[in-house]
Amino acid sequence: MASRLVLVVETDPAARRHMADLLTNLGYEPMIAESVEEALAALSRNEFVLSLVDLNSAEADGIDLLRRLKVQGGTPGSIIIIANGSSIKRIPEAAALGADDVLQKPFTPEDLENTIKSAIARPMRAWGREAHDDRGHRLQDELALWQSPQMHEVREIIRQAARADVTVLICGETGTGKDLVARAIHEFGVRRPGPFVKVNCAAVPRDLLESELFGHERGAFTGAHQLKLGKFESADHGTIFLDEIGDLHSALQGKLLHVLQDGQFSRVGGRSTIKVDVRVLAATNQNLEQAVASGRFRDDLYYRLNVLQITVPALRERPQEIPLLAQYFVERYAKLFQHESFTLLPETLQRLTRYRYPGNVRELENIIKRMIVLGDSVLARSPWPGESANGKHESPPPATKVQISLKHISRKAALAAERQAILDALEQTRWNRMRAAKLLNISYRALLYKIKDAGLEQDRQASSPA
Ligand SMILES: Nc1ncnc2c1ncn2[C@@H]1O[C@H](COP(=O)(O)OP(=O)(O)OP(=O)(O)O)[C@@H](O)[C@H]1O
Ligand SMILES: [Mg+2]
Repeated sequence: MASRLVLVVETDPAARRHMADLLTNLGYEPMIAESVEEALAALSRNEFVLSLVDLNSAEADGIDLLRRLKVQGGTPGSIIIIANGSSIKRIPEAAALGADDVLQKPFTPEDLENTIKSAIARPMRAWGREAHDDRGHRLQDELALWQSPQMHEVREIIRQAARADVTVLICGETGTGKDLVARAIHEFGVRRPGPFVKVNCAAVPRDLLESELFGHERGAFTGAHQLKLGKFESADHGTIFLDEIGDLHSALQGKLLHVLQDGQFSRVGGRSTIKVDVRVLAATNQNLEQAVASGRFRDDLYYRLNVLQITVPALRERPQEIPLLAQYFVERYAKLFQHESFTLLPETLQRLTRYRYPGNVRELENIIKRMIVLGDSVLARSPWPGESANGKHESPPPATKVQISLKHISRKAALAAERQAILDALEQTRWNRMRAAKLLNISYRALLYKIKDAGLEQDRQASSPA
């Protein structure tokens, strides 16, 4: 189903409530932002069908907000609300920034309904709804690949977890699909219209993590020029996914425990208490029980997180899924790299099924990507990570192989492949650029240049807020 999610930017509490009621009655799901910051945070985490911006109340300057919304990609439809004479003059500016329509206060529910309908009925606006459906479909498609009894069970626990709205600890080796599980819990639960906010506790530098999670007041420390909302605040009425929770340092373990106990915290440098309604999901590829036993992880926090535990089995424990996953990745990447004629040969599939995948589904995905880029359907040109006689596995083909064939494919596909190879290397080395450059067999400076050129740093900040 297409999104019914509507972003409302309104600072007046009475108008907010009124607008929320009207929209709900019309069958939409309103998400209310009280400030520009909140609106931008909400926009980066959700697919809205429409935004309604009160020009008079949108903190400081509604036009500036429209500009910033547009920079972030905007919403398929956009309506501004005006109240008095002065804002009327700004309509042309608003229209230039993509506003589809104007509503003047006071307006009737019918006015609102008609304006919304015409704003979202424009054919050129269809992209937003498609994008939303796409995302939903992709998750469904990916979950459908879980064909083993173990993963059926995982899916069943996800359903229960989604309904129960409790804290869930997701365990499993690297690359098994923990992110996918977290997303599914959010998407299948009552918080679906709310934001899904992910924080990778290992990727954010230790001294910045507290402010990343809980925000800071202006002047809280050197360089804190502006008030900053933390991820917990951005995730209000939604889900926060704390990835690599095992890497959370001890001072923050205490603060997190507090939030889990009573949903309250204060920003760094702040005195007032902030209350949020957030569901916490956490993931780890470490053995947290061991970390508790050795004193690295607080036991009280562990029990709070571990209300429900989902362990995602390693791919080698569900080899029947390998052909399905392989085929899925072939279809996806053949299209992306413009090698649509690429097919998986039966003997290749057999070899793929025998391999033990220490890097799990992500490793399988990377092998397929590499085969497609190299046009290597029998894995002849890549040193193949097959099983050797003694049952141990050889190491997978190094990422540097991607460089070889770039000359033979189109420029667009080559750029996409190169970008992917760089991302893989950075992911593998947890963004250690020195090691990634070595892996890619290029100079450190060349890598820095390529990261900048391909905008990878922004991507990283958008996906795992570091
Ligand atoms: N069932 C699936 N269908 C399609 N892709 C999958 C599936 N399971 C995992 N993947 C892909 O494998 C990769 C790894 O999955 P994911 O990021 O969820 O793993 P993870 O357990 O969170 O890994 P890490 O511990 O490194 O964070 C991703 O690119 C994901 O899209
Ligand atoms: Mg993950």
